[in-house]
Amino acid sequence: MAGEEFGTGNFNPNDTKRKTITCKAAVAYGPGEPFVLERVLVHPPHRMEVRIKILFTSICHTDLSAWQGKNEAQRAYPRIFGHEASGIVESVGEGVRDMKEGDFVVPIFNGECEECKYCKCEKTNKCERFGVDGEKKVMDCDGATRFSTMDGKPIFHFLNTSTFTEYTVINSACVVKIHPNGDRDLKPYIKTLTLLSCGISTGVGAAWNTANVHSGSTVAVFGLGAVGLAVAEGARARGASKIIGVDINSDKFIKGRGMGITDFVNPRDDERAVYERIREMTGGGVDYSFECAGNLNVLRDAFLSAHEGWGLTVLLGIHSSPNLLPIHPMELFQGRRMVGSVFGGFKGKTQLPHFAQECMNGVVKLDDFITHELPVEEINEAFDLLVAGKSLRCLLHF
Ligand code: APR
Ligand code: ZN
Repeated sequence: MAGEEFGTGNFNPNDTKRKTITCKAAVAYGPGEPFVLERVLVHPPHRMEVRIKILFTSICHTDLSAWQGKNEAQRAYPRIFGHEASGIVESVGEGVRDMKEGDFVVPIFNGECEECKYCKCEKTNKCERFGVDGEKKVMDCDGATRFSTMDGKPIFHFLNTSTFTEYTVINSACVVKIHPNGDRDLKPYIKTLTLLSCGISTGVGAAWNTANVHSGSTVAVFGLGAVGLAVAEGARARGASKIIGVDINSDKFIKGRGMGITDFVNPRDDERAVYERIREMTGGGVDYSFECAGNLNVLRDAFLSAHEGWGLTVLLGIHSSPNLLPIHPMELFQGRRMVGSVFGGFKGKTQLPHFAQECMNGVVKLDDFITHELPVEEINEAFDLLVAGKSLRCLLHF
């Protein structure tokens, strides 16, 4: 496999540098239409861009919603979706100093330019130029794409990343170099580190950075997909005493037990509102609740499950427009708070490398998140697994 020597700087690009590469990609031609596996052209990186050979990519709920075309303003085809991945730098454009050929990297959909007023502010991980943007479909510097079909038609980018392809081009603000862990090689970790690109960082970071879950606290997690279970794992690592998992799919409970979930609630098991049951289980409500299902009714339940006076609800699910928050403004007077969390509050370029070290040191356990692995040719089956709720993360390899 190319990339055997990653981390050493010895990657042999086989003379691909500065040339257009022809490679395999899974291209989407319309909302909900099956992906087409085909050869595409991947052009060289421009100034401050990086071309990456993808080792693994996985599928997240955000890919699913985007592929289904739920948000019309975000539709653009043909397009290469995918944003959770890991890979090896094949070549870098002019001006890139923090990465070189052969480095092991993960793309981040919520970039960090390190220069804008947001990047310079400690209170946010938003970035003016490279923050997450579902409508963006071309490269920043010239408004063009780095992908095209074999007959020269542009193929659009997705979420600053586009990873359902053997090679991709990404601005360096959206690529993080992961360093080996002391003397330890990265190789045994690359599959799990792939998940740091989105789901795990989003979930664990929401518990650590956004909520700052404290030892002995009570937590409720709504929606036990990879994101929700990563929240639970983050809360477990922080020493939360009770972690209640809420999901309409009882199969998720089995998995959740190994990831810190101490109690389960299936909304369909009982006529009472979920928040009433949670208040009863916790003597008035939890310290922290997390919405990881992308459903407004669930969000309201999560909000009302938080304890009056101090309870904090963290929103992680993606909600399609034009919905508004399902709470009455006066309900905030009861002292519950609500906040959104993007990419777990991590500033990707500067904070993810340290989080990666913690993962390799076993602070959070990530192996159980990978439930399936398939060749990229079976991407349509991999989407079916996510739709059916059978997979947490399915890794695709090229
Ligand atoms: N009540 C409780 N759980 C629900 C409900 C509901 N009404 N509806 C769906 N769920 C559960 C599903 O059964 C599933 O286990 O929410 C979980 C969602 O998990 P995934 O589909 O695997 O999604 P995931 O990748 O974890 O992302 C979760 O975060 O990043 C966003 O867009 C993403 O909104 C999505 C959310
Ligand atoms: Zn994602």
